[in-house]
Amino acid sequence: MSGVTDKVVLVTGAASGLGLADAQVLIEQGAQVIMTDIEADRGSELAAQFGAMFLPQDVADELRWAEIMDAVKAEYGRLDGIVNNAGIAPIADIETTTTDMWRKTLAIHLDGTYFGCQAAIKLMKESGGGSIVNMSSTAALVGIPDYLAYSAAKGGIRAMTKAIAVHCRRAKLRIRCNSVHPGSINTPMVQNAVKQLMDIDLDDNAEKKRKAMGIGEPRDVAHMVAYLLSDESKHVNGTEMVIDNADTVI
Ligand SMILES: NC(=O)c1ccc[n+]([C@@H]2O[C@H](COP(=O)([O-])OP(=O)(O)OC[C@H]3O[C@@H](n4cnc5c(N)ncnc54)[C@H](O)[C@@H]3O)[C@@H](O)[C@H]2O)c1
Repeated sequence: MSGVTDKVVLVTGAASGLGLADAQVLIEQGAQVIMTDIEADRGSELAAQFGAMFLPQDVADELRWAEIMDAVKAEYGRLDGIVNNAGIAPIADIETTTTDMWRKTLAIHLDGTYFGCQAAIKLMKESGGGSIVNMSSTAALVGIPDYLAYSAAKGGIRAMTKAIAVHCRRAKLRIRCNSVHPGSINTPMVQNAVKQLMDIDLDDNAEKKRKAMGIGEPRDVAHMVAYLLSDESKHVNGTEMVIDNADTVI
């Protein structure tokens, strides 16, 4: 078996953008995908189109994670991979960030990723191993002034990922954990940001405009995610994969 064929993989935030592309590419490559998202109607419609399982989920809700893993175990009996992808990106710098915005951003990204990793490891241990992919950002590497809480959260995901990878290796769990760091990718999150910050409309026909601005496509990230979930990446652990066409060279 190569690639992700027959692997059971859960993707959070799968009703839009990067999570949706991850789910699509994984399904195309033969994985059995469980899609989750807080947007239940959109998520279940999309999952039905792909023949995937959909579970409504707020990733910041710890108790829901136990129910999600119970449902995955009942349906598939195991979990081989998880993509902790769900996220929000409020635009605010250190002077304009509110405490509510700060707490919500950290709850979704940091708490959500922590709960997701902890819950997944429990089921992956029973499954004989697995691969965790945590969606970080180039914001974790450089810090983006207009995304204060987001930069802090993504930096935390980067460090958490490495701590989990070393723990799993040390404990001989056969579970790997890596982070992915996209630059700007053409998703609703970035379309809204570009509109708000630069008053530019990134409509579907504006391929040239997007290229000139260095904006990638969701599938550019999804192929890396699929690789990290596959057995071909079995020696790749605790690392950070930057996908930004050299936009953030540090
Ligand atoms: N688009 C980019 O350029 C880019 C770059 C770097 C990192 N990222 C990261 O990639 C991930 C996906 O971003 P995107 O661009 O696809 O955004 P998006 O807004 O298109 O999709 C995010 C998805 O997450 C879901 N979501 C939000 N809060 C949730 C919650 N509490 N529980 C469950 N689901 C929730 C949304 O409903 C949505 O479907 C995020 O973690 C984001 O920070 C995106």
